[in-house]
Amino acid sequence: MSYKKYAVIGNPIAHSRSPEIHLAFAKSCGIDLNYEKIQCEIPDFEKTVKAFQKNGGNGLNITSPFKNRAFLLCDETTVRAQMARAVNAIKFEDDGSTFGDATDGVGLVNDLQNNHQYSIKNKRVLLIGAGGAASSVMGDILDEQPSEIVIANRTIEKALDLESIFEDLGNISVSSFENLDHAFDLIIHATSLSLQNQKPELPECIINQATFLLDMTYNCGVTPIMQWAQSLGASTVIDGEGMLIEQARAAFVFFHLSKS
Ligand code: ATR
Repeated sequence: MSYKKYAVIGNPIAHSRSPEIHLAFAKSCGIDLNYEKIQCEIPDFEKTVKAFQKNGGNGLNITSPFKNRAFLLCDETTVRAQMARAVNAIKFEDDGSTFGDATDGVGLVNDLQNNHQYSIKNKRVLLIGAGGAASSVMGDILDEQPSEIVIANRTIEKALDLESIFEDLGNISVSSFENLDHAFDLIIHATSLSLQNQKPELPECIINQATFLLDMTYNCGVTPIMQWAQSLGASTVIDGEGMLIEQARAAFVFFHLSKS
């Protein structure tokens, strides 16, 4: 029997849970596949992807820091990948072409909706961070029609760049951390600070008893921003574990169950 060949590629990659999640989905669907981790040196991303394809690879998941470069190397991409300007799943087609998708945003929305019965519609949303993780979820959040999204980032220029990409799609504004002046229904933490066991300096007024906070980090336990939100009485505080599984589910559908 010939197994289909998949992998997740990133740097670092040791922590990745993609193999166990994809193999569990495959088992439940009766699909035989191999799924490995590829640690890739920063300059080598494009050639490593091409070598994996040449050696019979069927698809790749892409993680930090290569999602933007993955978008650039794809022949075709889904609309949601074009919005995010990032790709976290590449399918190698029979004709040798590459087709990319971005499933982080749908993973976040599905986690909120399906696992927490939380609807973004008409909610006041604060997105903390303006890097790759933040841009990968903006389009899908806007699709859910929040009443506003405020992007707060240490480097204001990056928040303004993100705002300009999505400005036609909703009520978006930009703020420094210290100028945030009201409570939000939904706060999404998308900086890399939780990985260093730190949090951004934020005013307490952004949290009230209705606030739902999601920290996109996973495998870090209760992070400083989660502890802080809990101590201020936020109604619900979760990490990115559910989002991780939901983005993998969407990538699995893209690989195995959808038509190109
Ligand atoms: P990722 O792909 O994980 O989003 P990234 O694109 O490098 O990684 O983005 C990292 C995010 O964490 C950015 O929003 C970054 O803020 P800046 O745009 O100002 O760099 C944020 N971040 C990282 N270290 C930070 C710190 N010490 N204080 C505040 N924000 C920080």
